[in-house]
Amino acid sequence: MRINKSKVAIVGCGLVGASTGFSLLTQGVCDEIIMIDINKEKALGEVLDMRDDVEYLNRNTKVMTGDYADCKDADIVVITAGAPPKKGQSRLDTLEVSAKIAKSIVEPIMAAGFDGIFIVISNPVDIIAHYVQKISNLPKNQVIGTGTALDSARLKNIIAEIVHVDPRSVYAYSLGEHGDSQMVPWSLVTVGGKKFYDIVLDNPELMKGIELDDIVNKTIRAGWEIYDRKGTTSFGIATAAVGIIKAILNDENKIIPVSTYLDGEYGQSDVYLGVPVILNRNGVSDILELHMLEDEKQRFNRSAETVRAYAKDYFKKVGLL
Ligand code: LAC
Repeated sequence: MRINKSKVAIVGCGLVGASTGFSLLTQGVCDEIIMIDINKEKALGEVLDMRDDVEYLNRNTKVMTGDYADCKDADIVVITAGAPPKKGQSRLDTLEVSAKIAKSIVEPIMAAGFDGIFIVISNPVDIIAHYVQKISNLPKNQVIGTGTALDSARLKNIIAEIVHVDPRSVYAYSLGEHGDSQMVPWSLVTVGGKKFYDIVLDNPELMKGIELDDIVNKTIRAGWEIYDRKGTTSFGIATAAVGIIKAILNDENKIIPVSTYLDGEYGQSDVYLGVPVILNRNGVSDILELHMLEDEKQRFNRSAETVRAYAKDYFKKVGLL
């Protein structure tokens, strides 16, 4: 007999890919990590640097370079390669270039016989995840975008600062596009089980000079605050991606907002969007359908329309519609 090894491949060894690999390694999440990049020397550099870590970690994870054929028996392939936005561009502006890169990655991986789970980080993540699902033809539960997992973490941080609690005691979601049209269903935000609205009613001084929209805008801007200073974001998205990977490999049934295919849920279909899902060894095992207020639904629908319009245009252009 042979006990199967857990194997995660990371495609793209830029800052996001390297940080994802490093976070996987230091958290001891899987047995094998394969680092893949068209620049093979860069991939090898990351691998050598990561191999030096084992002595001081709690697990002897095998870290290797590889190529697309090595993804054949991977449990998870993380796609980080893409076109970073130039100054002034939104994530949506990078669609064409990122989609071409995704195609050049997904086709050879599928040709190798991959039947695991794709986790897409490359932006615009909702559309690239949808595109990867279409061209891979894998079941929709096996293609996941990181979606608003990171935005939700950022939102929790901002709320946590206002109410002075650990962000992990805040339950809050940013939903919809991982981008400018994302929205927050405030009626569902709770802190330690208490409605955020009630906290504000009981403690009006906490929100002095702060509007709810300011918090949403700060959440949306959070990535750009980092981008403007260090030229990219990396640790936040890498850690969010590893949170998703842990939930899958450990069969956790953890609920995380990720970009997933909506087929009637939230009144939307034929679109990938950030909504809370149950993650386990099947990938997305179920979608949690939150009951939102009417105005929240409208904002969610507007976000869905934005993403769907961009996706449709592109899918038409490349003959997928
Ligand atoms: C961010 C990138 C991953 O928001 O879009 O940090």
